[in-house]
Amino acid sequence: MAPDAAEALQVISSERIDLVLCDIQMPGINGLELVRQVREVEPDLPCIVMTGYNSPENSVEALSAGAFWYLEKPFEQERLDVIRQLVDKAIQHGRLKSENHHLQKQLRSRHKFDSIIGKSSRLGRTLAIVEKVADTESTVLLTGESGTGKELFARALHYNSRRAERPLVTVNCGAIPEELLESELFGHVKGAFTNAVNHREGRFAAASGGTIFLDEIGDMSPNLQVKLLRVLQERTFEPVGSSKTQKADVRVIAATHQDLPKLIAAGLFREDLFYRLNVLPIEVPPLRERIEDLPLLVHHFLDLARQDRGSRIQGVTDEAMEQLMDYHWPGNVRELENLIERLTVLVGEGDIELADLPTEIRAEPITRVLAPRVPSTGLNFTAVVGRFETELIEQALEHTHWNKNRAAGLLGLNRTTLIEKIKKRGITPPENDAG
Ligand SMILES: Nc1ncnc2c1ncn2[C@@H]1O[C@H](COP(=O)(O)OP(=O)(O)OP(=O)(O)O)[C@@H](O)[C@H]1O
Ligand SMILES: [Mg+2]
Repeated sequence: MAPDAAEALQVISSERIDLVLCDIQMPGINGLELVRQVREVEPDLPCIVMTGYNSPENSVEALSAGAFWYLEKPFEQERLDVIRQLVDKAIQHGRLKSENHHLQKQLRSRHKFDSIIGKSSRLGRTLAIVEKVADTESTVLLTGESGTGKELFARALHYNSRRAERPLVTVNCGAIPEELLESELFGHVKGAFTNAVNHREGRFAAASGGTIFLDEIGDMSPNLQVKLLRVLQERTFEPVGSSKTQKADVRVIAATHQDLPKLIAAGLFREDLFYRLNVLPIEVPPLRERIEDLPLLVHHFLDLARQDRGSRIQGVTDEAMEQLMDYHWPGNVRELENLIERLTVLVGEGDIELADLPTEIRAEPITRVLAPRVPSTGLNFTAVVGRFETELIEQALEHTHWNKNRAAGLLGLNRTTLIEKIKKRGITPPENDAG
């Protein structure tokens, strides 16, 4: 209870309120102004305004000020039930709205740039471009091999733009049959074709104010490419079967794993459409070109498995990690994500070891071992490499109990080269293990 608007605002700012029920005529700030101010500080808090019985213009004004609804005075006894229902509905509506805002916020924070894992300079360069272009209206074309994270980048672009509060609508151009894609994109009117029993809104209309993500754009039929080109040029479209032109207030992000210039050369993709899409090209690098990011990604996916599925896997042994870093990852991050998911189930607990990895990954010879790191104070290259060589040879000899043939095999060297190196580096067997 508050005697006037000023005090009501005070209460609202200090307590959790479910509903505002207010009069219009009040000392000081009037009820309509109160509604406007409430909307600014608590946009999800519903307000019901009580208006004089014979002033329809007041009710209109109340609604346009942002009131949930209005009640005409005076309240007769028999209307009390209706009023109770209205109050219930308003409160429920307010709760749903604030819940929705909360969920959207969560969703957005999930798609902030920090959901994109990686510290490599290669990824960093791509991310810098993404950050720069996110909050522009320009069309973006994401290219990159399958599983590199194009969709993840598209989300980050949308959720870091001023359109973030509006929808992000994804269309997989490759997954929808050609004859349905046009009505899927632009909608159709009742009777436009045999099965069009009702008017239907298309994805461009659904994305209004937001972003449309056209995935697998390389799979779009030439026919539809013409229509899309028109949308990009004129920013308007027509639903199938309608001659009414609609405005397309959408930002377009497109993606493909295909080589569009190649498709153009083969006559499968329109060059003019390519130039319209390729305003801001972003190439998402394959995992093998930013392999330094692999350990971070592995730990990220292990963390997710622990959080989401209660996995009891601790980590990955150094040996297994080295082997993972030497694999060429044709399916990129998605392949890695799937592998980790499979391994967490199969291995169950403890660490993932070299022997747990699938044979196609183990088949790749290791060329990379963890460790070398250039300190910020610099190092002596020749000495470090020499020392590294010595350590590798010592370890191979230790593993094989100084069997030089087998040690040479482990290192992929021939026997004479190994013997030369042992001599040159002055490596000697431990006292009690000579042979
Ligand atoms: N840098 C990254 N950090 C965290 N997760 C990533 C990263 N890159 C990709 N992923 C994850 O890898 C999976 C594949 O990514 P995404 O679906 O975005 O790939 P894509 O490029 O769209 O692949 P396709 O061309 O096959 O559609 C997703 O689960 C995504 O979350
Ligand atoms: Mg994709």
